[in-house]
Amino acid sequence: MKRAVYPGSFDPMTFGHLDIIRRASEIFDVLIVAVLNNKGKCPLFSVEERVNILREATKDLPNVYVDSFSGLLINYAAENNLHVAVRGLRAISDFEYELQIAQTNRKLSNGKLDTIFLTTSLEYAYLSSSSVKEIASFNGDISQCVPEFVADLIHEKYKNKEQGNE
Ligand code: PNS
Repeated sequence: MKRAVYPGSFDPMTFGHLDIIRRASEIFDVLIVAVLNNKGKCPLFSVEERVNILREATKDLPNVYVDSFSGLLINYAAENNLHVAVRGLRAISDFEYELQIAQTNRKLSNGKLDTIFLTTSLEYAYLSSSSVKEIASFNGDISQCVPEFVADLIHEKYKNKEQGNE
């Protein structure tokens, strides 16, 4: 059975991530979407919220499971007997960073964790979680970037921030 892990921050998950998830779920028998519990980064959504968003957005994909991890990806992969990581590439600017991480993971895992790249569909090539947050922070329209229920949650977060509730 071919299994893979798709790691990321997913803060928030965008249509670009969903596109990679859907396509990877057609290539692999099982795809585990692993949300990094990046406490240092001060994320907009907690790891539990990000996991719940991903679970809701992928509920029509029966071979996709959503989990979270802390620390090094190679350790999470080893603990779960996963040997392939999937990452999306939008542009050449992503490539340098991704190449370095992929090679580091391969080296650190003694060749046990390899990375495969899917090129993001052109319609989502401009999308990033940071730009979605930037647009939403100015109350801009993010309906082309994330599913409607995610857009509502993001706007709610910024409204709470404005009101000093978060
Ligand atoms: O969505 P992102 O923020 O681009 O995802 C980056 C991620 C989570 C894939 C990467 O930062 C990661 O795997 N972090 C865990 C720590 C680790 O294993 N780093 C790789 C060795 S430098």
